[in-house]
Amino acid sequence: MIPFEQFQQHTRQQIERVLAKILPSADIEPRRLHQAMRYSTLDGGKRIRALISYACGHLLDIKKSTIDSIACSIELIHAYSLIHDDLPSMDDDDLRRGKPSCHKAYDEATAILAGDALLTLAFNQLSKADCSAEQRIRCIQLLSQASGSRGMVGGQAIDLANEGQTVTIAEVESMHLHKTGALICACITLVAGLRFDASDSQYKNLKHYAECLGLAFQIHDDILDETSSTETLGKTQGKDQQSQKSTYPALIGLSASRQLADDLFTNALENLSGFDHQADYLRAIAAYTIKRKH
Ligand code: IPE
Ligand code: IPE
Ligand code: MG
Ligand code: MG
Ligand code: MG
Repeated sequence: MIPFEQFQQHTRQQIERVLAKILPSADIEPRRLHQAMRYSTLDGGKRIRALISYACGHLLDIKKSTIDSIACSIELIHAYSLIHDDLPSMDDDDLRRGKPSCHKAYDEATAILAGDALLTLAFNQLSKADCSAEQRIRCIQLLSQASGSRGMVGGQAIDLANEGQTVTIAEVESMHLHKTGALICACITLVAGLRFDASDSQYKNLKHYAECLGLAFQIHDDILDETSSTETLGKTQGKDQQSQKSTYPALIGLSASRQLADDLFTNALENLSGFDHQADYLRAIAAYTIKRKH
């Protein structure tokens, strides 16, 4: 097993190659749309969803080519969610991954369409994954649930509805589990679903790991929004407070939020206790999730 840092580097290069190949070339018409899709997907992002997918694939000894399709479809949906998240009608953010957001670099209509096209491309890719037809359908079902109105999109709707409202911790938790947790969880369930039945205890433990990870990831995102800088983040710092977002730091303060992220990290690791050192990449990803600077 190569060290985690090397695994991270290789995985980022691999997902970049796969995405660059799958995205329509920028000189195919409609060019502006294809340029915008490539602009917002390539050469940016931490690729944590890809890392989780390949790390789970490593643990369960799944073919790399199969993970390529799973990781790539999830990163495509994530990229689309960021383009739409930044739109003036949503978070109205001008900066993403250290460069102008899609609607700033192009225009609003192109940004909406680029998001739409990335979403459909994701499912097209998944329909061609290197596994059985039955497994492909299962992957498509899981990812459509995770990204739709009862997953990420639903979470985004709750996020917007919660702006300026007084909400409970349980409500913020549910919002985070949907808007961010669902897609992070999909990185595990799509891969683990290739080996196990959903009722299998190993599947359940991996899924719980991913739920803790997803929640911790968004809590840490909320913390960074308050404590980091625009330069380090590559997105506008302080935007949550400005938009009166319901976040953990806003509700329980920074130090309790940090404690909660730590507890979730511990809980995530506990769910991996039945796995040997082959799960170390997943353990390292959990540590990275709450220690990352951006
Ligand atoms: C940002 O996700 C949006 C959230 C769900 C918090 P990431 O922090 O994974 O964004 P990139 O892909 O690294 O830019
Ligand atoms: C975004 O959450 C979650 C999704 C895009 C689904 P945020 O609005 O907190 O993400 P950032 O901070 O803009 O990256
Ligand atoms: Mg948002
Ligand atoms: Mg946002
Ligand atoms: Mg945020």
